[in-house]
Amino acid sequence: MTLGIGRAAGKVILFGEHAVVYGRPALAVPVTQVWAEARVEAAAPGSGVVIWAADLGEEIALRHAAADQPLAAAVRLALAAIGAQGQGSGKAEVGTGRLSALDFRPTPEPDWRITIRSTIPIASGMGSGAAVTAAIVRAIAALSVAPTPNPQSPIPPVTDATPPPLAPAVLSDLVYEVERLYHGTPSGVDNTVIAYGQPVYFVRGRRPEPFTIGRPFTIVIGDTGIRSSTRIAVEEVRRRWTQEPARFEALFDRIAQIVEAARAALAAGRPEQLGPLMDENHAVLQEIGVSCPELDALVGAARAAGAAGAKLSGAGRGGNMIALVAGEAAADVAAALAAAGATRVIVTTISPAVGPDFVQRAI
Ligand code: MEV
Repeated sequence: MTLGIGRAAGKVILFGEHAVVYGRPALAVPVTQVWAEARVEAAAPGSGVVIWAADLGEEIALRHAAADQPLAAAVRLALAAIGAQGQGSGKAEVGTGRLSALDFRPTPEPDWRITIRSTIPIASGMGSGAAVTAAIVRAIAALSVAPTPNPQSPIPPVTDATPPPLAPAVLSDLVYEVERLYHGTPSGVDNTVIAYGQPVYFVRGRRPEPFTIGRPFTIVIGDTGIRSSTRIAVEEVRRRWTQEPARFEALFDRIAQIVEAARAALAAGRPEQLGPLMDENHAVLQEIGVSCPELDALVGAARAAGAAGAKLSGAGRGGNMIALVAGEAAADVAAALAAAGATRVIVTTISPAVGPDFVQRAI
């Protein structure tokens, strides 16, 4: 019997990756063509929680999983957040941004089989880890019968079949904790855009803001097929920044200017202006040292096929790139990317679906 299902979309960073780790702004959008799903089903009494990562062919028993096993961590945090009784340090801290529920042990442990599937390519800059965590937390929060409730939980116990409201800010905090296991020192942009499910202007440590999209625009996403560790890319940039702080601060400042120019162009309904900004952002990321020949080849192929601009997206050194296309160029650019070796191509249109509701929910 299925008890709860949670889903979360992937994302791409339009502008600002890496510089966002150093306090500069970034623009990121959800990509709803790809998503992660977690399904919680009732299991045999005494089985405890078993997580089945279907795409990886991996089965994890919660009671034996290490505190830093990301899927188990997502389940422990979610259980603490919905108010399950148990032992561990984190229950009272949920929602404070300082979670430490990774050692949370539900008592009694529910008997669940949690199946996880995802169409988001792993380690490719599309937020697969964050989306899987968000899907797990949403599935557990959507259970129609919560385990014995904890009165200290910020989320009200479930009293009927209505899924409990899970504030995006709470979800974002939970996902951030698991992101730290994957990435060490994430800026928070990935968990934010995935938890809010809206285009977001993000500055580390500040409340996320929506950004205005005056006119829809289309991007083509091309995957190099090379898996790349965000942790390693971020550590490498930090090493270089430590060696040449003034140069890297100037590069991050340049990216911040590009982000602000892009935000203004989008608000003014002039998305065509994003093309040259993407080209420039890519050049700065090359200087920072996070591009690679395969990303440069896809960026070049997209431009040659008529894209208005292109850049890598995410941590770089593999993963995905994005290209801005005017309607009729999308098919040409998508074909050119496939011919240049992209293992997967997604065409997605970003719409102005952001209203005051988002600001309300961001608080
Ligand atoms: C990864 O999607 C984006 C980076 O800027 C890292 C981060 O923001 O934590 C490279």
